[in-house]
Amino acid sequence: MKIIQISDLHLFATATETMDIAGFSVNTYQTFQKVRHALQQESDIDLIIVTGDIAQDPSKQAYQHIAKQLHTLDAPVYCLTGNHDNPEYLKRFLNTGNLHSIDYLDTESWRIIFLDSSKPNCVAGHFSDEQLAKLAEQLDTHKPILIAMHHHPVPIHSQWMDEIGLQQAEKFINLIKQQEQVKAVIFGHIHQAFDETHHNIRFLGSISSCLQFVAQQDDLVISPQSIGYRHLNLQTNGNIDTYIQLVEQNN
Ligand SMILES: [Fe+2]
Repeated sequence: MKIIQISDLHLFATATETMDIAGFSVNTYQTFQKVRHALQQESDIDLIIVTGDIAQDPSKQAYQHIAKQLHTLDAPVYCLTGNHDNPEYLKRFLNTGNLHSIDYLDTESWRIIFLDSSKPNCVAGHFSDEQLAKLAEQLDTHKPILIAMHHHPVPIHSQWMDEIGLQQAEKFINLIKQQEQVKAVIFGHIHQAFDETHHNIRFLGSISSCLQFVAQQDDLVISPQSIGYRHLNLQTNGNIDTYIQLVEQNN
């Protein structure tokens, strides 16, 4: 099964607004168009997962604009919430046509669980005890499991980023490591590629469609050059082949 992960689109209600961060100004609509065109060249995508920070401006108009963009993708698209998103608008506007905002999906051979790690007015990730109890029920399957969420649940070795990861990381890891069917956790938020294995679970971070943060820095350092997405090939035996696909900025 071929899955594409796109992340941290940071889109606005218009095609002209820019995300301004640490001296850089990025037109996130234009960067997403490049990623969208690259995805249209891909063949046989079974599904696309968007791991949060879909909107930069979490207005109703932004989600209506984003829905129009995502409707052009030739695959089912599963959307989940990041710290910049409005969960209510995301569920309302990104849950029509080929767009889905659901808790989990059973494909023929895998279970994919979509988690909302956002908390109002909080940059870091959060899971309530109720969410973790619900997750424990969703983990009850004989199929291999892929978990998708926005925040990173393991340290990525950047001090400033690790202060805004998942706050209940220990509880979350203790829960998922008990179920040997959990094969991987994919996430966004970190705007960089990441691939580590802990407790036999692969933790995979994707680059953003708009701009990257340089890895292993104590403070924020921007790398505006590269954009792209992650490829995941989920095999029926529970193995995963994965790589980051860079998209040419000057096309
Ligand atoms: Fe982001």
